Amino acid sequence: MINIALPKGRLGEKVYKLLSDIGYKCDEYSKDSRKLIFSDKKGEVSYFWVKPSDVAVYVELGAADIGVAGKDILDEYCPDVYELADLKMGRCSMCVAALEDFKDDLSSPLRVATKFVHTAEKYYNEMGRDIELIKLNGSIELAPVLGISDVIVDIVETGTTLKENNLKVIGRISDISARLIANKSSYKFKNGGVLSICEELRKAVENCD
Ligand code: PRP
Repeated sequence: MINIALPKGRLGEKVYKLLSDIGYKCDEYSKDSRKLIFSDKKGEVSYFWVKPSDVAVYVELGAADIGVAGKDILDEYCPDVYELADLKMGRCSMCVAALEDFKDDLSSPLRVATKFVHTAEKYYNEMGRDIELIKLNGSIELAPVLGISDVIVDIVETGTTLKENNLKVIGRISDISARLIANKSSYKFKNGGVLSICEELRKAVENCD
């Protein structure tokens, strides 16, 4: 039995669809159900639905053998897991953004609002720029609009949120996409099962492109 942690939401549903198409279907699964664990009849796989940012925690701690997590989360929390494949879904970028008329004042620390504090710290450290971090949990775009930060470090997908709040991208940190990750012990002790799901999923993703 391979335990799989999937992120709740559109991305998780897309990955579940691919997995069910390649034979790992759970008859009892329904999109509208509030149930969080599903197993297939053959007893090959079991799925857990978790908050996207928690997938890596379940995988690192071994509750799930494999899971699907965004590269943004992996970069931010650096969980001790193996990254097996780029699923090429949920593509977006980690960016620095600011108000349209922003001008950097190098004489004082840059106020950076973000959910991704480690990612922001690393980026500005490498640049040698002093910053003051403001940790927020959502609606990050509000911070410069209301004047509590100079810039934000956040995910940009379509760019609509930035545009509608008079913000623009002033720096690109990295490209983000969904990754298949594995628990390190599971990779060793359930190697056959983990690798075969990984390979089948990789092929299914390529056929989707
Ligand atoms: C994410 C991100 C941006 C938005 C970007 O927010 O933090 O706010 O999506 O998408 P766009 O470029 O397509 O507009 P999310 O919806 O996850 O909510 P949050 O504000 O609570 O982080």
